[in-house]
Amino acid sequence: MAGGGADLWDSGRVGSDQSFDVAYAGKPLGSRQRCWWTVEVWDEAGEQLAAPPPNWWEMGLLEPGDWTAAWLAVEGEEEREDRLAGLNWIWGDPPDAEPARRFRFCFELADAAEDAVLYIAGRDRLLSAHIDGGAIALPAWERNAFGRAGAAELRLGRLGAGTHTLASEVRLSRNATRLPPGRGAFAALLKLRHADGRVSRLASGPGWRTALDAAEDWTRPGFDDAAWAAARPAAIDPGQPLPPTPARLFRRDFALGKPVERARLYITALGAYEAFINGQRVGDGRLAPESTNFRKRALYRAHDVTTLLRHGANAIGAHVGDGWYASVVAPGGRYAFGPPPRRLRAQLEVVFADGSTAVVRTDGDWRIGSSPVLTSEIYDGEIWDARAEQPGWSAPGFDASGWPQARSATAPPCALVAETAPPIRPTMTLEPRTISEPRPGVFVFDFGQNFAGVCRLHVKGKAGDRVELRFAEILKADGEVDQANLRAAKARDIYILKGDPAGETFEPSFTYHGFRYVEVEGFPGTPTLEALEGVVLHSDLPIAGDLGIEQPLIGRLWRNSLWSQRSNFTGIPTDCPQRDERLGWLGDACVFWDAAAFNMDVYAFTARFTDDMRDAQTEAGAFSDYAPPAMRAGDEPAPGWADAGVVLPWTAWMRSGNTSVIDRNWDAIVRYLGYLEAANPDHLWRNKRGLDFGDWLALDAKQPGDPTTPKDLIGSAWWAHSAGLAAEMAAVIGRTDEAERFAALREQIAQAFQSTYVRADGGVGNDSQTGYILALQFGLVPEALREAAVERLVADIDRRDGALSTGFLGTPFALDVLADAGRAALVYDLLLRTEFPSWGYMAAKGATTIWERWNGDVGDVAMNSFNHYALGAVTGFLFRRIAGIAPAAPGFKQVAIRPVLDPRVKRGGGAFRSVLGPISTEWEQGEHGVVRLTALIPPNAQARVHLPARPGQRVQDDAGEPVAELARTPDEVIVEIGSGRSGLQVG
Ligand code: BGC
Repeated sequence: MAGGGADLWDSGRVGSDQSFDVAYAGKPLGSRQRCWWTVEVWDEAGEQLAAPPPNWWEMGLLEPGDWTAAWLAVEGEEEREDRLAGLNWIWGDPPDAEPARRFRFCFELADAAEDAVLYIAGRDRLLSAHIDGGAIALPAWERNAFGRAGAAELRLGRLGAGTHTLASEVRLSRNATRLPPGRGAFAALLKLRHADGRVSRLASGPGWRTALDAAEDWTRPGFDDAAWAAARPAAIDPGQPLPPTPARLFRRDFALGKPVERARLYITALGAYEAFINGQRVGDGRLAPESTNFRKRALYRAHDVTTLLRHGANAIGAHVGDGWYASVVAPGGRYAFGPPPRRLRAQLEVVFADGSTAVVRTDGDWRIGSSPVLTSEIYDGEIWDARAEQPGWSAPGFDASGWPQARSATAPPCALVAETAPPIRPTMTLEPRTISEPRPGVFVFDFGQNFAGVCRLHVKGKAGDRVELRFAEILKADGEVDQANLRAAKARDIYILKGDPAGETFEPSFTYHGFRYVEVEGFPGTPTLEALEGVVLHSDLPIAGDLGIEQPLIGRLWRNSLWSQRSNFTGIPTDCPQRDERLGWLGDACVFWDAAAFNMDVYAFTARFTDDMRDAQTEAGAFSDYAPPAMRAGDEPAPGWADAGVVLPWTAWMRSGNTSVIDRNWDAIVRYLGYLEAANPDHLWRNKRGLDFGDWLALDAKQPGDPTTPKDLIGSAWWAHSAGLAAEMAAVIGRTDEAERFAALREQIAQAFQSTYVRADGGVGNDSQTGYILALQFGLVPEALREAAVERLVADIDRRDGALSTGFLGTPFALDVLADAGRAALVYDLLLRTEFPSWGYMAAKGATTIWERWNGDVGDVAMNSFNHYALGAVTGFLFRRIAGIAPAAPGFKQVAIRPVLDPRVKRGGGAFRSVLGPISTEWEQGEHGVVRLTALIPPNAQARVHLPARPGQRVQDDAGEPVAELARTPDEVIVEIGSGRSGLQVG
């Protein structure tokens, strides 16, 4: 472009106001290609504006053959033997018998084992384990371990030569998990170290015998188990629950003999990696690669490392831990994805100033060293022994002669795909507000804000001092942290000091926690507030929205939902950041995306996450309950959860105007809707609703998932909604036939819905609030009955003294439905309410994030996250209908400014960085409800403004000139404004 021309693509001057969603139509692009671009713009007067200086993007590694680097494995011989021997899942028949199944295994030792370790796991609960008739103490079992605890590691001590008997009992309770496969499984691996140094292993398998009922003394050596059956492999996903392993360091030296023009590092791992060049950290990303279904894809990143390289001696290193890939409660268990964790693939490509190139790739010349990270686990935390640090390990000249040579491993069967969403990185540092000492030597730091991330610890002490940090969202009555609601997640980091007299700093590499409080034990001396910093970690999406509503409760609600979004956008959109779950639950995302896409620019994140949703889609077309799944996902789609497969692409398109997210997902959407139709020929979603969560955590439910609103009604409403969105998307990508087909499908579902659930008096379903809300929001109530349906909804809210009874699926649309029906006062009643249940109740109880359940303060601890964004989805409404910034056409080309007003809130507005440019609103109510509104509308966009006006009142602009009215009703006037800043006043 230096010469003023374009060699790849020149669109020429196009007379159009289309300033987004312009697809590249030039020459095909290849791997590593750098592409320069600029845009020339002419204004409405034909005047050319100054073109921005050319900028560039670069292509990634597009073909598998671009990767010439080997995958390196770190597994030591002993770890490898453990894995090959296997913690194999076994079970017996009948598979679903409850409650307890027993196992026995007799074995002979020719020579004594000086040391015996038993790894043992049971699903869903290991009740007991016995060696030679004696009970072995088991670690406390987490009753609600969602992903099920990993294997217990039990030290049995010495086992003499001769016959031994292992016995164990596993309980299967069907209710303990809602996730398939719900069947039982048992696994054990006995590892024996003999006097001559030999290690032998005995693994669960057909040699074990199993029975349901047994006499009292079934654990006794010599008990006659001849009538018991031989165990068979359990019918669950493979995955071995082996305990987490130490991280590893990888390094190699290399020399560069010429000046470097540019250099790129392409890197990924099965696990999590941090890369270093010449002792400097490459980038500031954390916990990469992000969670995916590693059977199908792993994400790599390209880093510009030009400035890290030097002439002469260089070194490259990588620190690799277990990461998401190997997390025990993923919930498929460790090795759920196949190859063992901590494998690394890296390719450093250097272009010299003279045009020649060099590549440094992972290969047999790399060496592997031990890391100070003794174990790391996403949910459990990290143990860092600073005495084992190896200063200078990633700088040139480090003596790694004692480090073993790396082995190359077979490539995992997944595709390597460029991560195109922003990295997880530190975005803020928080200071603790207070410290207390509930028990001598135990200090509790309060950050005053619930968030996801890690703590940076500053400490001075002796080598070997051990500081433990325990993370929690809440405190117990005695002032210590309460981790009960974290279920099986241990959420603790341990730092063992090296004894640096200058002091030392620890920040874990391969874990994160969701917390407000940190309990510190073992701190040498008395810590001050400076001992800890809170490091906020999340996928660093650009902030897009700002809400300026002058009402403390509404402001709090928005900030709480923004904090919950920060806490849960961690590579994937998780349900919660703290307990043993942290999964990409699709129902939560489905309802929250409206809000999410106001708070942040979610386009790249959505596009990438839809890959995970498609990876999780079944052959038959069902979207899953969560993505990515580490284990087999449910076979059938759940209403409101699976629909994220349609709603997320639609939302990302609507907000950005970019249709490529539709193209990317179109086939999957068609397959999904086809699946539902094939299963439900009468156009009510009666069949195949999978785990069917319903209006999850609705207040009229006793247990999560109880039917409150009929589930076929919920399903049919969502199906109609998805079909409608699909019709809109088909139309915009030029698939006219499919647009008609889906519009007709939506109509058929709507008809079936009306004749089945809507009564002549406007009643809907069983009169639950969510029944009304979904039917009204998704346009399923005939026009003539809408008012009657709204009346009935309002009557139910009144009957409950002004409270909603809704859960995940109904709550997000409650205010929209009321606002559309002109019930502004009730909208504000609900927003400003502080009694239970309400958003204000959470705020009044000190919430700094959105709670999972309305009654978070007293709810069942097993299902009680304080940082779950679903109920905060109403933030979308705050932007659209209180600030008045709603997209009325894709990309905000048309903006609907239609703020719902109430005398209790005098001023409001907001701002949003749209693809066309900044949009903002500011309104003010004066005496007698006079409204003044200022709006900023970007180029190539216009807005329709609805303002309350009594008959006779007129709209004027800033200069006092009358503004042309587009339409008028008895209580409002509608005007149109164009690009730029406009001031309007009704009077
Ligand atoms: C999660 C939810 C999720 C739900 C499915 C829960 O355990 O935390 O937010 O959507 O399961 O019902």
